[in-house]
Amino acid sequence: MPPTAPRVRIDNATCVLPDGTRRASVLLGNGAILDIDPAPTAAADETIDASGLHLIPGVIDDQVHFREPGLTHKENLHTASLACAKGGVTTFLEMPNTVPNAITQAGVDHKLELAADRCVVNYGFYIGATPDNIEDLKTATRTPGIKIFIGSSTGDLLVDQQEALERIFAETTLPLTAHCEDEATVRANAERLGGGKTVHDHSKIRDHAAARISTARAIDLATRHQHRFHVLHVSTADEIPLIAAAHKSHPGVITAEACTHHLWFTVDDYDRLGTRIQMNPSIKTRADVDALWQALRDGVLEVVATDHAPHTLDEKKQPYPKSPSGLPAVENSLALMLTAMHDGKCSLEQIVDWMCAKPARTWRIVGKGSIVPGFDADLALVDINKTHIVKDDEQLTKCRWSPWHGERLKGKVVRTIVGGKTVFDDGRIDPMHRGSPARYAHELG
Ligand code: DOR
Repeated sequence: MPPTAPRVRIDNATCVLPDGTRRASVLLGNGAILDIDPAPTAAADETIDASGLHLIPGVIDDQVHFREPGLTHKENLHTASLACAKGGVTTFLEMPNTVPNAITQAGVDHKLELAADRCVVNYGFYIGATPDNIEDLKTATRTPGIKIFIGSSTGDLLVDQQEALERIFAETTLPLTAHCEDEATVRANAERLGGGKTVHDHSKIRDHAAARISTARAIDLATRHQHRFHVLHVSTADEIPLIAAAHKSHPGVITAEACTHHLWFTVDDYDRLGTRIQMNPSIKTRADVDALWQALRDGVLEVVATDHAPHTLDEKKQPYPKSPSGLPAVENSLALMLTAMHDGKCSLEQIVDWMCAKPARTWRIVGKGSIVPGFDADLALVDINKTHIVKDDEQLTKCRWSPWHGERLKGKVVRTIVGGKTVFDDGRIDPMHRGSPARYAHELG
């Protein structure tokens, strides 16, 4: 951004700052946060009166599938980034199971180029592991880390041979993350259930044991090799003591996250929502949902993400097990969490910790996740009391549906600022704005 970029002052917002929540003015310029409570005489080209609103750091969603290249009938980087802007998500980290898979530096670089051309928010792309791309993984740059599908999901990425996993954990240096569902358990369950007859069987095929066994295996690898590892989408109460024990025995090695669908839906919702909530890992029970919330409050789980994984409704409507797993969520995740706050499940400060500060820390993203002078001006203004009903036909995700269709949410994003510029303002989006690639501390040397 040129040094002459307009300065913006946000006045009268209740700001969630690292040292507390209070009324403050925030001055933005050159794409950054310049000052908190600037002198009243500090010059600004534009003033936003944010009376009655809360100012929080923009959400960093560290687990999304945006389908480009190759699967753009479901979603593309532009439509997904519009959905992000509407949802207060200012940075996303995208998974490698596109077509082709992003399993080389060239694959990651291609996505970065596509994103620079079409994303209205900031972006980053993981490199995917295969059983034999260790050399690519060892030299990869411009990426937050390496994604391993230890259990298979959408696409053909899978590394479940112990020898290959040992090498990845031993020889690479980038942070690692994984989809943890034990392949052998899933296959045995599927065989026992004849492949599955209804979507209810999905949670019996991808059951508690599959999640527990695979997460235990990944934690064993990470702790033995002392390799930073992030457990994606924890779905069961069973995995939580494993993560808590690793925190004690190997501080700083393991982080873990919950996703919004696992914090909302239970197997009882299959009757109402069918394959709309078919996900990998599968939706579990009320006891699991309650345990995930408690683990977030206890600090065992530190990140809330979405695993935004759109498929068209026609694809989803196929009879199980032909129906694909995945659901869209980026444009509703923050509003969902604000609704949970009103239900007494968490505070606004916890939401900011789980969705902004901790994802930045987990992936060592430079200058994001907190409202601090010098950090990037990626921000969301929210009206925590504004209610709205989620509607399929109002979704900006290309697949135009939401598993939360019909739900009344309390708490709404009213403005999203990316790099100091407003990209979403009360329903209007600037489709021409372009975000920037996230930068990682491990690349700064
Ligand atoms: O349900 C899922 N769908 N889980 C994943 O991990 C991948 C995702 C997709 O890409 O469709």
